[in-house]
Amino acid sequence: MSSSSKTTVAPSTATTPAHTSSADGRPGSISLRGVSQIYGKGADRVTAVGPVDLEVEPGEFLVLVGASGCGKSTLLRLIAGFEQPAEGGVEVSGGAAVPGHTSGVVFQQPRLFPWRTVGGNIDLALKYAGVAKSERLARRKELLERVGLIDVDKRRIWEISGGQQQRVAIARALAARTSLLLLDEPFAALDALTRERLQDDLRTVSVESGRTNVFVTHSAEEAAFLGTRIVVLTKRPGRIVLDIASPILRTGLSAGELRDSPEYTVLRTQVHEAIKGAAE
Ligand SMILES: Nc1ncnc2c1ncn2[C@@H]1O[C@H](COP(=O)(O)OP(=O)(O)OP(=O)(O)O)[C@@H](O)[C@H]1O
Ligand SMILES: [Mg+2]
Repeated sequence: MSSSSKTTVAPSTATTPAHTSSADGRPGSISLRGVSQIYGKGADRVTAVGPVDLEVEPGEFLVLVGASGCGKSTLLRLIAGFEQPAEGGVEVSGGAAVPGHTSGVVFQQPRLFPWRTVGGNIDLALKYAGVAKSERLARRKELLERVGLIDVDKRRIWEISGGQQQRVAIARALAARTSLLLLDEPFAALDALTRERLQDDLRTVSVESGRTNVFVTHSAEEAAFLGTRIVVLTKRPGRIVLDIASPILRTGLSAGELRDSPEYTVLRTQVHEAIKGAAE
């Protein structure tokens, strides 16, 4: 982290300082240096985000939180390579971000092919990822099992629930076998119970896969539950006001134990206060 993005909200005793080392070219690393994004021209010109300096280590589960319109989705699009920054540099795994290659992306709405079956959507993602036809059936089964959808393999997308559709989107992003997964409020439109179940699943999958995750949310609960590191942005143009490493152990705790732990409660409150403070 550079000096411009130093923590300005004092961390509580439950947190430790976030990583300060520089991410290198290892798969799954992210490096943002002096990144800003500007949209529009003349009177319509808007600085959406930045400047932001951020180094993410391979395997981190980074959660980005902040008020609506502060530039979270913009940052994700820059990391995905969907757009280029107006200022500064973005590196993913030590090189340029290439859409569809350097990261898998899960959007707020699943964006699936509704006329295809569940398995057909996964199969297509595997095909795009260059997986040979002979291997695709086995990989598809493995992915559907991982997200708990093996029973609905043959169903059309419109025949499954919203929560199940979001699971398909996660399986599809995992199909790419990229070392980086970007998730933009993927559970925001779901009911509380489904959301909690998917959070549990995503945590398990991410621990198992060792991928780097960047997850956008408005929820302090979600951030404290999922993140190994939580970054809070100011209101637009978003800049980093808080960058904390989670004190919560990644492995060995069940979802229930984690949610019942005092560390979780302290972290959740701290993130909640920081989001409120940053939005003012
Ligand atoms: N393509 C665009 N053209 C013009 N302005 C844009 C564009 N994309 C985003 N913006 C503006 O940039 C700012 C940041 O938008 P962004 O979507 O990144 O915010 P966000 O933090 O993801 O918000 P939310 O939490 O509501 O999803 C907003 O003010 C938005 O209106
Ligand atoms: Mg957004």
